[in-house]
Amino acid sequence: MEHTQIRPPERAVFRYQSVVELIRKQIDAGTLRPGDRLPSLRSLGSKMGLSVPTVRQAYLELERLEWIEARPKSGYFVRPRTANALVRKTSRRNEPVRVCCRDLLDDVHDAIHRPGILPLGVSNPTMALPATKTLHRAMKRVMSAAEERAFAYAPTSGDPSLKRQLAYRYLAQGLQVDPDEIIITNGAQEAMALALQCVASPGDVIAVESPTYFGLLELIETLGMRALEIETCPLEGVEVTALEAALDGHRVAACMFSSAINNPLGSRLPADNRRRIVELLEARNVPLIEDDVYGDLVFDGDRPLPARAFAKKGSVITCSSFSKTVAPGYRIGWVVPGESGAELVKLKRAVSCSSGLLQQLTLAEFLGSGDFDRYLRRLIPVLRDNAERMSCAVARAFPDHTRLSQPRGGSVLWVEVPGIDAVALFREALAHGVSIMPGTVFAARHRYRSFMRLSYGHPWSDKIEAGIERLGALAKAQL
Ligand SMILES: Cc1ncc(COP(=O)(O)O)c(C=O)c1O
Repeated sequence: MEHTQIRPPERAVFRYQSVVELIRKQIDAGTLRPGDRLPSLRSLGSKMGLSVPTVRQAYLELERLEWIEARPKSGYFVRPRTANALVRKTSRRNEPVRVCCRDLLDDVHDAIHRPGILPLGVSNPTMALPATKTLHRAMKRVMSAAEERAFAYAPTSGDPSLKRQLAYRYLAQGLQVDPDEIIITNGAQEAMALALQCVASPGDVIAVESPTYFGLLELIETLGMRALEIETCPLEGVEVTALEAALDGHRVAACMFSSAINNPLGSRLPADNRRRIVELLEARNVPLIEDDVYGDLVFDGDRPLPARAFAKKGSVITCSSFSKTVAPGYRIGWVVPGESGAELVKLKRAVSCSSGLLQQLTLAEFLGSGDFDRYLRRLIPVLRDNAERMSCAVARAFPDHTRLSQPRGGSVLWVEVPGIDAVALFREALAHGVSIMPGTVFAARHRYRSFMRLSYGHPWSDKIEAGIERLGALAKAQL
C-alpha cells in the first residue's frame, strides 16, 4: 500500500464501502497477505480523501466479515482465510490403556534429524527467530566472570543464580516460590519423568489430555503405567466435566496436563478451568503434574498463571523449561515439586547427578540482563504471524474438507484431513524431503490416524510454502 493517490472502486454506495472493497481486492490479489498490518486509519483516510471515522467504519465491517482483525495497541491485520476449524468432539468414556507409541517415535525422531529435510515435524519455536547473538554474548560474559568454575559440576538441585531468577519471575506473576523449592533439570522431559516417578508406580493410571504431547505418552509407556485419555477441546484445553467423570470411574494416580497451551492443539486452558481442575484434584488427593513449557508463548493477553497458583495443598508439581523459549539444546528445565521435593532431588541425583552449569549460568545472565523478556516480545508476534501464514497455506494447498486448529500460542498447527492415513503420509512426505508428525503419536493408541502436526517455528520462506503445497498434493492423492 505505497500509493500516494488511491481511487475508490466505482460501485461503492456508501463511502466506507469503497474502503471495504479496496481492501478485499488487495487481499484477493495477494498484495495484502495474512498477517500484514493495514495502513492506519489516518494514513488511509488522507490518501483516499476520507475521514478517519469512515475508514474506521470500513475496518469494523471488514473485521465483522472476518477479513481482518484488530490487535490491541498494534492496529488492524489481515486474517488468514482458513479452512474449517476443528470440531469439538463430544466426550466419550475412555478406559485406561497401555501405551504403545515408541516404535513409530523411533522413525519420526530419525526423520527430524535427517540432513536436508524440511523439518515441519519438530516443535522448536525459537528457530523462528533464533536468539543466537544475544545468547552468545551472555555466555561470553559468564565465561569471563566464572572462568573454570563454569565447567564444574552444578549442585544437584541447580545453580542458585538461575533459581533466583526463576523465583523472581514467579513473583512477577504474583506467585511466591522460594528459590530453594526449585530443582533444575535436563529439560521439562526430565522434570516430568522425575515428578511422575515420585507420585506413581508401574501399573498406575495417569490421566492425560487427548491429544497430548507424545513425550508424556512415551514416559508412561516406558514406566509401565497406563494412560487414561481425557477429551480436550480444540480451543480451551482439557474438558473439566470429562475429567470429573473419569475420576469418578477410575482410580487415577496422577494427572499430567498442559496448564497453558496444549501441544498439539494450541488450545489455551482458561484460568477458571485451571482453578476448577486444581479444586477437583485436591478434593480427591490426586497430584497434578502441570506441563507449562508453552506458558510464555501465548499470543494474546497476559501470561497464564501456572495451576499451582490455585493450589491450597502441595500436590501440584510444576514442570517447565527453556526449550521452547531460548534453546532446546541447552537441555535446561525445572520443577517446583511441592510436597515431593525431598524425594525428587534424590531421584535427580541418582539419575543424572545435575544439569549443565555453563548453560544454567548463561540463562541466569540472559534472564537477569532483561534480554529474555526483550526476546520474547519479538518472538511472539513472529510466531503469531507464522501461525496465520501456515493456516492460510494449508487452506490453499490441502483438500477442501481439511480442518485446522486455531493456535492461541506455541508453534504448531494440528491438521485433520478426514479419510487420509497420516502415518502413510509421513513416509511419503519424507521421500519428498518433508517431515511431519503423524497424529497417532499424540494418542495412547489407535486415534488421530487422519491428523498431523505441522510446526511453524521456522523463519517463513518460499521453501515452507512449497513444502506445504507438496504435502497438500500428497494428501489429495490419498483420497
Ligand atoms: C508440551 C511439551 N512438554 C514437554 C516437552 C519437553 O521439553 P524439553 O525439551 O524441555 O524436555 C515438550 C517438547 O517438545 C513439549 O512440547
